Amino acid sequence: MRLFFALLLLLPTLARAADPAPVASAGGMVVTAQHLASEIGADILRRGGNAYDAAVAVGYALAVVYPEAGNLGGGGFMTFRKANGETGFVDFREKAPLAATPTMYQDGRGHLRPGLAIHGWLSTAVPGSPAGLEFIRTHYGTLDRATLMAPAIRLARDGFVLTQGDTQIFDAMTPYLRREPALAAIFLHDGAAPRPGDRLVQPDLARSLQQIADQGPDRAFYHGPIGAEIAQASKAGGGLITEQDLAHYKVRTLAPVECDYRGYHVISAPPPSSGGTTVCEILQILSGYDLHAMGFHSAAEIHVLAEAMRHAFIDRNDRLGDPDFWKNPVAELIGPEHARKIRSEIDPLRATPTPKAADEAQEGANTTHYSIVDAQGNAAAITYTLNAWFGSGEIAGHTGIVLNDEMGDFTGKLGAPNMFGLVQGKANEIAPGKTPLSSMAPTIVTKDGKLVMVVGSPGGSRIITIVLEALVNTIDHGMTIQEAIDAPRIHEQGLPDVVLLERGALSPDTRAILEGRGYKFRDTGYWGCAEAILVGTPALTSQDYGNAGALPLNAMPPPWAKIFGAHDVRGGAGAAVAVP
Ligand code: DON
Repeated sequence: MRLFFALLLLLPTLARAADPAPVASAGGMVVTAQHLASEIGADILRRGGNAYDAAVAVGYALAVVYPEAGNLGGGGFMTFRKANGETGFVDFREKAPLAATPTMYQDGRGHLRPGLAIHGWLSTAVPGSPAGLEFIRTHYGTLDRATLMAPAIRLARDGFVLTQGDTQIFDAMTPYLRREPALAAIFLHDGAAPRPGDRLVQPDLARSLQQIADQGPDRAFYHGPIGAEIAQASKAGGGLITEQDLAHYKVRTLAPVECDYRGYHVISAPPPSSGGTTVCEILQILSGYDLHAMGFHSAAEIHVLAEAMRHAFIDRNDRLGDPDFWKNPVAELIGPEHARKIRSEIDPLRATPTPKAADEAQEGANTTHYSIVDAQGNAAAITYTLNAWFGSGEIAGHTGIVLNDEMGDFTGKLGAPNMFGLVQGKANEIAPGKTPLSSMAPTIVTKDGKLVMVVGSPGGSRIITIVLEALVNTIDHGMTIQEAIDAPRIHEQGLPDVVLLERGALSPDTRAILEGRGYKFRDTGYWGCAEAILVGTPALTSQDYGNAGALPLNAMPPPWAKIFGAHDVRGGAGAAVAVP
């Protein structure tokens, strides 16, 4: 009892003790951006499915209950680590149609027409999600397709009741949805955003899902009636996707990018994502500084974070691309020599300006990440995307399937920024059958051969720094996994040459110190939606506190708990759901 009161007294003095405790579990954890999808994944685990079965069921479910980013018409990545220690990476990201060309988004005078790359049929790349989910099921799962797709089909056919977290996106996107009759017919009710308590029913999508469940993605989608409908609609809408493009689509497996940071081993996304390489490059640079001693978001820490991010993004933007088309210098970029050289170029008292100026670009996009760990210790980190919210805004015929605008991730023109403000180079130039460079970073961390963390997020180019900050906040600052992903973020990507700040990321005096060193800041609200799991402990350094009396309540694990899940406070509808 005395200990309890001592703890209560301690609480107000602890910097981030106001965050709720991570969700604790003994038997598995599913964290997604929509609570019904999390429940479906947890139910698959409860019924004896493994993490990969749950990943497939969640992938299909999010296409229904999180339609702004969950998808069949997009693509994504899975980083995995099996309970036996085997690691791997599944690439089911979209590919450029065979008729794509490097200058397809430029006018006759070589000027970029950026809208074409992010809206309408011309922005759509060949979708990979149905093939990817089937690949995961057949290679790593144990359950049949009908079982894993049944919950998604039911939710699409019978509908589900929207919460306030679900309706926010429809409120924010109402003017856009009104301009897209196919989207408006599904997601608006008489031209207005649905309200909490309303039901969203998607009969066309239910039919497409049923076709895929019955015949498999190959026969229903890539070589079948859904593919034919996509090709037909694409042609009618001025797009490039043909039945031949769909028939050619293939999932790839690739070796993940792996690196070490302060005794932890990081396993993440290789090219065609820049995610893992850039996270590892930044970590390698940061390993030369004592971030813990500097303190969370002190001027000293922000200085080295921003400089490490800047240098790594400059490399990202010029030197990475689809590995089937470009030789990626991953080992060099994440190696100690390169990091040492970058550290030697960082002026401890001045911001380093990024060379060459560029126009700025508008942001507005979505993607979704989910993290799963089962009772055996199999781990799945999946990030998949339509790129922008509701992708290209196109739906093929009566399929109910929203198509991506992933072509916008390519270099539309050398030196011109894309929708995320990324100024990219030749490595990421458009070519037929090529996959655009991504920033998605589904990431798994181990220590001494044991699973420690699963994490990822949407956020365009900011995905890289969101994942990075989750790692730094847990490893260097000893935050609980919930605190680590909820903490205010910063982001620097070289160009535009400003440090983006979430609300509350810097105190006024810290900001003034850094402005005195030449930093420019932009206040940018909130971004991203990380979904994360820690295994064994709710906070990595809780064992270092020495005695339980010094632990905040939210870092005190119940004695039965083994797995700790955290859904980002920024995302309204998601949840970490535990398997008892
Ligand atoms: O693959 C990428 O990097 C982007 N298409 C991801 C888009 C995204 O995360 C947008 N979400 N906010």
